[in-house]
Amino acid sequence: MADTHPKLLRGRVLSFNRKPVGPDDHDALTYLEDGGLLIENGRISGLGDFTALKDTAPAEAEVIDHRPHLITSGFIDPHIHFPQAQVIASWAEQLLDWLNDYTFPAELKFADKAHGTRIAGAFYDALLANGTTTAVAYCSSHPNSVDAYFEEAERRNMRMLGGKTMMDRNAPADLCDTAQSSYDDSKALLNKWHGRGRALYTITPRFAITSTPAQLEAAGALLKEHPDCHLQTHINENHNEIDLTLELYPEADDYLRVYENFGLLGERTLLGHCIHMNDRELGVMRETGAVAVFCPTSNLFLGSGLFDRARLEGANIKTAIATDVGGGTNYSLMRTLDEGYKVLQLQRQRLHPFETFYWATLGNATSLSLQDKIGNLAVGTEADVIVLNARSTPAMALRMETIETLAEELFLLQTLGDDRAVAQTYVAGQAMKS
Ligand code: GUN
Ligand code: ZN
Repeated sequence: MADTHPKLLRGRVLSFNRKPVGPDDHDALTYLEDGGLLIENGRISGLGDFTALKDTAPAEAEVIDHRPHLITSGFIDPHIHFPQAQVIASWAEQLLDWLNDYTFPAELKFADKAHGTRIAGAFYDALLANGTTTAVAYCSSHPNSVDAYFEEAERRNMRMLGGKTMMDRNAPADLCDTAQSSYDDSKALLNKWHGRGRALYTITPRFAITSTPAQLEAAGALLKEHPDCHLQTHINENHNEIDLTLELYPEADDYLRVYENFGLLGERTLLGHCIHMNDRELGVMRETGAVAVFCPTSNLFLGSGLFDRARLEGANIKTAIATDVGGGTNYSLMRTLDEGYKVLQLQRQRLHPFETFYWATLGNATSLSLQDKIGNLAVGTEADVIVLNARSTPAMALRMETIETLAEELFLLQTLGDDRAVAQTYVAGQAMKS
C-alpha cells in the first residue's frame, strides 16, 4: 500500500529531464543544492528548492533531512534472473556450460513454491539494499515462481516486471514445458498479474535454443494478443550459442531473423546482450524499436564479448543497462555502470557520469516505455527514490575531500559505490531500508 502520510525530503536533489549529450549538457538535468521533494500518496507532488517547497507543502508533511546526501531516482534493472540468486558466482566456462552445470539445476528447485517464496524475499532485499526499485526478471519455467515473484513485489508495492520462462527443449525434462502449456500458463499468469497494482507481466521465451518453433510461435501469439506487455529474450551473446541457434533454425540467415519470423519484435521487446550483431540485425532492431540490453558484468564474467554501444546507438537503437544476475556478478547498478564504463573504455567509448547515471535511471525507464511513471523525479511520477552517500566507506570519504563537482561525485559513486552508498530506498514513498 502507498504510504499516505506526506513526506518532504531535503537534500541535494538530482533528476534527469532527458538524455545528456556530453559533459556540459546541464540542461539535461535538474540539480538543486538545497532541494526538496514532496511525496504524497506514493507519488511525487513537488520538486524544488527546499525553503520554497516547505512554504507550500501540507503542514503535516514530515520533513526528512538527508543532507548532505544526494536524492535521486531509484535504479532500474531491465534484465535479471530471479531464480539465479544462488547461481551468482558459479565458476563456469562460458554460457552454455554455465547454463547446464549451474543454472538449470538451480532453476529446477523452483518447482517448490516455498523455495521460490524464500528466494523472492532475499532477492527483493538485495534489490532494495542496492537502490534498485524496478527490475525486469525472468522467473523459472514453473508458474509457481511467477506467483512467488509478484506476491513479494506486491507486499513491497514495487513496480516490477517479469514472467514465466518459456522453454520446451535442450534443458532437463523437469524444467521443460510444452508450446501449448507455456502459452496457457503464461496467459493465465498474465491475466492474473498484468496491471495488478504495480505489476507488469513480461512474455519470456528464454532464447531460441530452448524453444521449439512452435513455442516461439506461441510467444508471438501472446505478444500479438497483449501488445501492451513487454517481451524479453536473449540474443547474440556467445559464439557457440549463435552457432547452435543457426543449426536449430536452418531457415534463418541470422539470429534475429528467428525472432523476427515469429513476430517477437516490437517497442516493448527487450533483447539481452546484442553483442555479436550484423548490420541487417541492427536495421531490423531500429525499424521495430526493439531494445538492446547491455549486461556488462555478465558479459565479462562469461567471457561473452564487448557490447558496442556506439555502433548500436549510432544505428538509432534504444539501449538499456542491466545486471543479468546470476550470469552478472552484482545486484548494484553502480557496480554495473563501473564495469560497463570499462567495457566501453576498451573500445574508446568513454561515457561521462551524467550519461551513465541517466542510463541507469531515465534511460532505462525510456527504453522500457515507462518514463512517465519511473526513472525521474518529475511531479506526478511514482515516488521511487534513493538517497546516495558518496562518503559511505573510508576510501570514498577520503576521495570526496578533493571532489568539487556533481559529475566528479557521481563518478566516484559509480567507481567505488555499492549497497553501502545507498543510504535509503523509498518505494512509492515508503522507506524500505532500515
Ligand atoms: N541465455 C539463455 N538463458 C540465459 C541466462 O539465464 N543467462 C544468460 N546470461 N544468458 C542466457
Ligand atoms: Zn539473462
